[in-house]
Amino acid sequence: MEEREISQAVIRRLPRYYRYLGELLEHGVERISSNDLSKRMKVTASQIRQDLNNFGGFGQQGYGYNVKYLYTEIGKILGLDNQHNMVIIGAGNLGQALANYAAFEKRGFVLKGLFDVNPRLVGITIRGVEIRMMDELSDFIQKNDIEIGVLAIPKTRAIDVANVLVDNGVRAIWNFAHTDLNLPDNIIVENVHLSESLMRLSYNITRYNMEHTDNS
Ligand code: NAI
Repeated sequence: MEEREISQAVIRRLPRYYRYLGELLEHGVERISSNDLSKRMKVTASQIRQDLNNFGGFGQQGYGYNVKYLYTEIGKILGLDNQHNMVIIGAGNLGQALANYAAFEKRGFVLKGLFDVNPRLVGITIRGVEIRMMDELSDFIQKNDIEIGVLAIPKTRAIDVANVLVDNGVRAIWNFAHTDLNLPDNIIVENVHLSESLMRLSYNITRYNMEHTDNS
């Protein structure tokens, strides 16, 4: 496949294509036209064609898309055909909830370790993964080929811990702490802020209410 720069907007849409195609596969659908995919996903057919053309198209005139093939290829583009080992730092409410979510593994994200500073958590296991103390972290990362560090700790601790992760070879941070990390450019950071998503929801509720308020 030809290597070229893909816009972040397209990359943001790919997981959604992947999810829809996965659902189609589960329902035994073998092929789909861009028009049908467009109706299901509420994205214009031309947007779909344009997006997928970035990767060589995948479609055939008059046939549509082969669902399995497209699903597999998008999975490869997203790197889901590789295993990504990860550790979660912070085994509180959020860290344990993430650790309990088995579906990440299906996508190749394998939880290898859970770390915390609270000694009361020592020995507890979540889905077979033991909670360890932070003094074991550096050694653990190096021995277990850890690629991703998940930060589920208070924001005041996040920068220090992120630096420890990076110093020991972690390549990417999935950051739930509400702070910017400012790490070296070669470290990939994906910030997740559920409250920002809620604020967008709030904005849309507010706008809807304004548009539907009877002013007469
Ligand atoms: P929590 O208090 O239940 O868990 C935090 C855990 O981090 C505790 O077990 C604590 O012992 C541990 N911890 C504290 N300092 C540490 C350190 N230096 N190294 C390792 N572990 C340490 O809190 P909760 O609800 O799990 O939230 C965790 C963080 O995630 C908070 O910063 C919260 O604001 C944030 N959060 C972010 C969300 C988002 O959408 N980005 C959603 C929910 C929480």
